[in-house]
Amino acid sequence: MQDPKTPYYLKTADIKWDNDNVPTAADFQDIYFQKLLGLQETDYVFLQQNKLAARWVKDLTNAEDQHFTIAETGFGTGLNFLATWKLWREIAPKSWHLHFISAEKHPLQPQDLKRSLQIWPELQTFSQQLIAQYPVLIPGHHLLDFDSDNVHLHLLFGDAIECFEQIRSSDHPLFGTASQHKVDAWFLDGFAPVKNPSLWNDSLYLLMAQLSKTGSTVSTFTAVSAVRKGLIKYGFAVEKIPGFRKRDMLRGTYCEPAIESDKSAIQSQTHYNKGVKAPWYISNPETNKPSPKKHVAIIGAGLAGSMSAYALAKRGWQVTLVEREDAIASGASGNSQGMLYTSFSPLPGIVNTFTLSSYLYALRFYRNLVKEEVLDRKYLDFCGMLQLATTSKQQNLYKSLKKSLHNHSDLVQFVNADQASKIAGIEIAHPAWFSPGSGWVSPVNLCHALTQHPHITVLRNNKILSLEYDGKWQLNTRDDSSTTSRPVVSSDTVIIANSIDATMFSQSQSLPVKAIRGQITRLSSQGELNSLKTVICHEGYITPAMEGSHHLGATFDLGDIDTGIRLSDHQRNLDSLYTAIPSAKNSSNVINGGRVGVRCTTPDYLPITGQLHDQQSFIHDYQALRKNSNEKIDVAGKHYPGLFINIAHGSRGLTSTPLCSELLAAQINQHCPPIGRNLIKALSPGRFTIRDLIRNKR
Ligand SMILES: Cc1cc2nc3c(=O)[nH]c(=O)nc-3n(C[C@H](O)[C@H](O)[C@H](O)COP(=O)(O)OP(=O)(O)OC[C@H]3O[C@@H](n4cnc5c(N)ncnc54)[C@H](O)[C@@H]3O)c2cc1C
Ligand SMILES: C[S@@+](CC[C@H](N)C(=O)[O-])C[C@H]1O[C@@H](n2cnc3c(N)ncnc32)[C@H](O)[C@@H]1O
Repeated sequence: MQDPKTPYYLKTADIKWDNDNVPTAADFQDIYFQKLLGLQETDYVFLQQNKLAARWVKDLTNAEDQHFTIAETGFGTGLNFLATWKLWREIAPKSWHLHFISAEKHPLQPQDLKRSLQIWPELQTFSQQLIAQYPVLIPGHHLLDFDSDNVHLHLLFGDAIECFEQIRSSDHPLFGTASQHKVDAWFLDGFAPVKNPSLWNDSLYLLMAQLSKTGSTVSTFTAVSAVRKGLIKYGFAVEKIPGFRKRDMLRGTYCEPAIESDKSAIQSQTHYNKGVKAPWYISNPETNKPSPKKHVAIIGAGLAGSMSAYALAKRGWQVTLVEREDAIASGASGNSQGMLYTSFSPLPGIVNTFTLSSYLYALRFYRNLVKEEVLDRKYLDFCGMLQLATTSKQQNLYKSLKKSLHNHSDLVQFVNADQASKIAGIEIAHPAWFSPGSGWVSPVNLCHALTQHPHITVLRNNKILSLEYDGKWQLNTRDDSSTTSRPVVSSDTVIIANSIDATMFSQSQSLPVKAIRGQITRLSSQGELNSLKTVICHEGYITPAMEGSHHLGATFDLGDIDTGIRLSDHQRNLDSLYTAIPSAKNSSNVINGGRVGVRCTTPDYLPITGQLHDQQSFIHDYQALRKNSNEKIDVAGKHYPGLFINIAHGSRGLTSTPLCSELLAAQINQHCPPIGRNLIKALSPGRFTIRDLIRNKR
């Protein structure tokens, strides 16, 4: 039995099967879909009554790259999603995007999902892809991209009301709906209200109203009067119509109240987060509309810059990526091999949420990159990663993790020294935990592959020295021969992605980033090490060979920015390897190279991703927090228009940059974000200023 207090706890569905392989939820005594007729029912109740086919036709009024959002209560077997996807593929304009947000409190185990979807051969091409990407069953926001159809499934594992609350852009009454992102159609499908009353209540209908706009539709199989009244109470015009093989069902349309005070009454109600805080992380939506020009300039062509460029290029943006060196990935991202690292913690917390979310997203992201042939298979290997418990501290962690994660073998497995040796292919003397989905990627080749996108132009040998705003951003550099600066490029939208050097710009100079020098050592693969099959992590790490060499990482020197190779650091890497894996000494190891980079990190170990705040305005607008950290301040944070940042990926850029870049691209476009509000807040650049104010340090 799993401990409900761990961050990994989720009660999964308890399924009973009938003779026709139709699943029933034992806990609710209710069916997932009607025997033999489930697909027809989905089509009638959800697709037809939300008029999806008619709405997915391009006319002169809608944009080339329209984003359509559906939100559902109860993902269940995914039947509604798959049928929607099939229709989308058949009729939606190819350049449009579908976001399908589905909350599920008790997800099906993968084997149950597979079994229940076998009934629908007509959905097989879709269900196979869903099964391949189906996430590990831990709470939170899992984004699954099916890029060939521009379909994005946001699977939110948790209670629907809590999950939808996280989609609102703020817990502040005035700014809860500040984001432009709204739901176009609602599928209410969370078992019969009489069997599941905790879902069907005012909190849900209120959130639906807050996340809807005029014209948003809703449909549900039920015709229960309390549901109809609840929807009407919060602004939906609802009608009863004939149901599917039952007397009736409900469908409706949302209409924003015409009177401003009624509108704000709806928006300001909240059943959650009653301790409303200052809305510093919200930027005023009026002054931050996505630029119609769809051009972005990005400073720095490492993992953060290349990944941000790729995320925006995929959304149709033209990208100018500006790099000071004569090659991209010249900084920390220039290593030949890096591991897809994640850590686990038995305790809940925002760092743990980010670590896990970014890791799981990265694994799906890289698999898709290979599938789409963006990155050559030789530049990555999902060979798994062993974390050795070499110290007594790690052995204690091993024990507590084993308790909280013992039934997540798809995520991590706990093995003894013998088992670890078998997995590694070399002799290991310690117990370990093994992440089977992990492995290594070549960061330098990844940056090159991502920037091949036809929408990305790279300007090399251009060191940006300052950013000036005169209605749009000018990125200035200086000729060697003169003291005057000249703009290299100008754009409405800019992303600062130059890591530790971000503090050279006046707009970002106050960010509390720290530099950490790191050196890796390259060893030619021979002897015992030649049989290494998996990444091994101890105090450092060693990778299986790529092109005949292993990489040992890495030294860790806070505040040191010298990038010269040190022989003493090679020795430190070797010593660390031999301490953790004494058998590695048996190989006649030869150092055949190495590389130094500077990592960039923050005091709270999270990256800095989001729109850049205006430090002086923050200090002025939120000064009341010095006296009372719970002061209600009705001012949205002042942010620089169109200026974003993506830095401080520490020692895990391969893991963190895919999710952070996807977040940034969603924010820039005001699309549905890949993570919930709490995490967006935890990553946002203004957090340090707010913390300093609260601690009276500003
Ligand atoms: C030794 C070592 C080992 C590591 N191992 C791993 C690992 O195994 N797994 C993992 O996930 N992570 C690892 N990391 C961390 C990872 O490399 C970083 O998190 C990641 O590379 C950060 O990417 P970035 O784009 O933010 O920074 P960088 O790669 O440093 O990119 C910043 C870019 O900005 C450019 N630039 C700077 N100033 C300007 C300017 N003014 N104008 C224009 N361009 C500018 C720089 O030239 C550089 O190309 C390791 C890091 C080191 C140092
Ligand atoms: C009828 S099934 C959904 C069928 C599903 N839409 C499909 O296409 O297969 C109802 C689902 O709602 C889920 N559910 C019940 N209460 C919930 C809640 N409070 N939050 C989120 N999901 C919930 C159940 O676990 C179940 O999977």
